[in-house]
Amino acid sequence: MNPAVNESDSILNQYSFEVEGGNFNAAGTVSTRIKSLLKQNGLSDDVVRKSAIVSYEAEINIVSYARKGTINLIVTSHAVVIEVVDEGPGIPNIELAMEQGYSTANQQIREMGFGAGMGLHNIKSYSDKFDISSEVDKGTFLKMIIARNNSKKD
Ligand SMILES: Nc1ncnc2c1ncn2[C@@H]1O[C@H](COP(=O)(O)OP(=O)(O)OP(=O)(O)O)[C@@H](O)[C@H]1O
Ligand SMILES: [Mg+2]
Repeated sequence: MNPAVNESDSILNQYSFEVEGGNFNAAGTVSTRIKSLLKQNGLSDDVVRKSAIVSYEAEINIVSYARKGTINLIVTSHAVVIEVVDEGPGIPNIELAMEQGYSTANQQIREMGFGAGMGLHNIKSYSDKFDISSEVDKGTFLKMIIARNNSKKD
């Protein structure tokens, strides 16, 4: 059993994607793939939308700040779980990084249209459960859980 999910949940599908740091040409391809896989899995528009937003923000952060990372997507009977682990500089002050408007984005990142300091805040607000941990000079780990609305058809 994957530790990401509750014991009452059954895993329906899981996928893993690699993200390359610094490659802005490919930025967004993993979250686009996640969006289409979740549609194929029959998830509601609302869950697909939230999952696409959080995975996009996490993917852009890997591209912007880390050397490389992995995004794991787990579809369970009750939720979409997105785990993101990267190898990179880590985040020295998570509380500060979570603040709206705080950004260390350099000129290149800002020219690409990123660096508003909203990514982590949005990830947290679109997730039903959000965990973040980081070790300086090692990397960062995020876990987002987006609950499925099971009332209609599951
Ligand atoms: N994976 C990461 N590795 C290292 N530092 C990170 C990582 N993700 C975020 N950070 C740090 O946290 C800050 C805030 O991240 P956040 O995603 O909220 O905003 P941003 O990336 O600066 O701008 P935006 O996401 O709005 O384009 C970043 O500027 C960076 O300093
Ligand atoms: Mg960001």
